[in-house]
Amino acid sequence: MPQETNPSRLVVLVSGAGTNLAALIDACTDPAYGARIVAVGADRNDIEGLARAGRAGIPTFVLEVGDFDQRSDWDRALTDVVAGYEPDLVVLAGFMKLVGTTFLGRLAGRVVNTHPALCPAFPGRSGPADALAYGVKVTGATLFVVDEGVDTGPIVAQTVVPVEDGDDVESLHERIKVAERAMLVDSVGRIAREGISVTDRRVRFGV
Ligand code: GRF
Repeated sequence: MPQETNPSRLVVLVSGAGTNLAALIDACTDPAYGARIVAVGADRNDIEGLARAGRAGIPTFVLEVGDFDQRSDWDRALTDVVAGYEPDLVVLAGFMKLVGTTFLGRLAGRVVNTHPALCPAFPGRSGPADALAYGVKVTGATLFVVDEGVDTGPIVAQTVVPVEDGDDVESLHERIKVAERAMLVDSVGRIAREGISVTDRRVRFGV
C-alpha cells in the first residue's frame, strides 16, 4: 500500500476548465493524501486544465484525435504516453473522449471517470441537461471504474444534489461540480491509500 513516502502515481486527463484537476492538485499537496500527479494529459490545447497543471510544475502532454489517421492510432499513442508514466491510477476528470480498447486493455482496472449524473441515469455528454429536461428532483455525480461502455462501469462513489426550481443547465452543472470535486478528492485519496476491489460490479475500498 502506498505510504506518505511512496505516494500513488496519478495521471489525470482533462478537456476543459480542469476544476476537478485543480481540486486533486490541491489535495496532493498534503503528504497524508497518499497520491501525487505525475502527468496531466489533454485531447486539446489552450485549456485552463493544462495551464493549471503547468503552474503546479506537473508535466503535461496533448494528443489530438485529429492529428491521427485513425481513432485507434490515437488510442495507441495515448496508451503509450500514459503507460509510460507508470500510473497506479488514471483519472479521467472532464476528459471528453472515450478511451479505446488498447487503452483499457493495458490499463484495465486502473482507470476511473467522473460523470455529472447519477449513473445509470443520463449517460453521455449532456448529463445535467438531460436530468433537467427529464424533471428529476435530485441528480448528482458518479465516479466509476471505466469499462468499454459509456458511463457504464462499476460505481466507486456517488453524490447527490437537489435540482432547484430556478435551475438552468449551467446553474445545475455548477452545483453538481461542487459536490463532484469533493467526491472525487475523497475517493481518489481512498483508492490511493487503500486500493479498491471489484466483485460482480460491487466496488469496495481496500484490496
Ligand atoms: C465535470 O462535471 C465532468 O464530470 C464533466 O465535465 C465537467 C468537467 O469539469 N464531464 P472540469 O473541467 O473539471 O472543471
